[in-house]
Amino acid sequence: MRVPIIAGNWKMNHTVETGTALARAVSDNAPRSGVEVVVAPSLVSLASVVDVLVAGPVHVAAQNMHWADNGAYTGDVSAEMLLDVGCRYVILGHSERRQIFLESDELINRKIISALAAGLKPIVCIGESLEEREAAHTRLKVIFQLRAALTGVLREDMANVVIAYEPIWAIGTGKTASPEQAQEVHALIREQLGELYSAEVAQATRLLYGGSVKPSNIDELIAQPDIDGALVGGASLTADSFLALTRAAVA
Ligand code: PGA
Repeated sequence: MRVPIIAGNWKMNHTVETGTALARAVSDNAPRSGVEVVVAPSLVSLASVVDVLVAGPVHVAAQNMHWADNGAYTGDVSAEMLLDVGCRYVILGHSERRQIFLESDELINRKIISALAAGLKPIVCIGESLEEREAAHTRLKVIFQLRAALTGVLREDMANVVIAYEPIWAIGTGKTASPEQAQEVHALIREQLGELYSAEVAQATRLLYGGSVKPSNIDELIAQPDIDGALVGGASLTADSFLALTRAAVA
């Protein structure tokens, strides 16, 4: 049985003060079982949010990291630094990192390998653009990105990998993929994991959907057989909407 994950990606939002208040509200009210709840604050809030969450059920993710262990990489942080501050997960390959910061598939793969080697669990984001969907290239794009991301990732490491399917056209746009569209791609990803690794790995790996997930559409998404939770941007920024998502994932 796959325990669903509801992960909130705060992106470049919240100060230490508002972020810790949000984290406290989430921690105090999130379901204690049946769902894994994760929040991803900004780098500068990570340590304070970890302090607030340390005794509770909610885990902390970083939004990005560098692939190297240390060195002259101005402005960046390593997997070890994130673990040191109390992170358990790291979001890698988010479409905003790919598009705005021009992160390549190869770079993202190096980060995934580095995160796993350090003991951080990557939440690996993949997904097609609107042009790719309209050109009927969704399958090709998803397969390509998945295989590129997992190059060199060993079967025994897959227990620590979470995949997030995030169609770019649905992120922050208010447009959600229909449950059928999302399920179709999730089934494809699971099938690919079966080919790349094994049927057991395919069945055990958690596949999140992301892109304008909110309390009003979570139920029909989470009801799909291959959707094991959500990676949430906008609706993770307030306690009420995020908590509603965590409760929906349990039911
Ligand atoms: P959104 O963002 O929920 O605001 O669409 C999702 C994401 O970028 O992970």
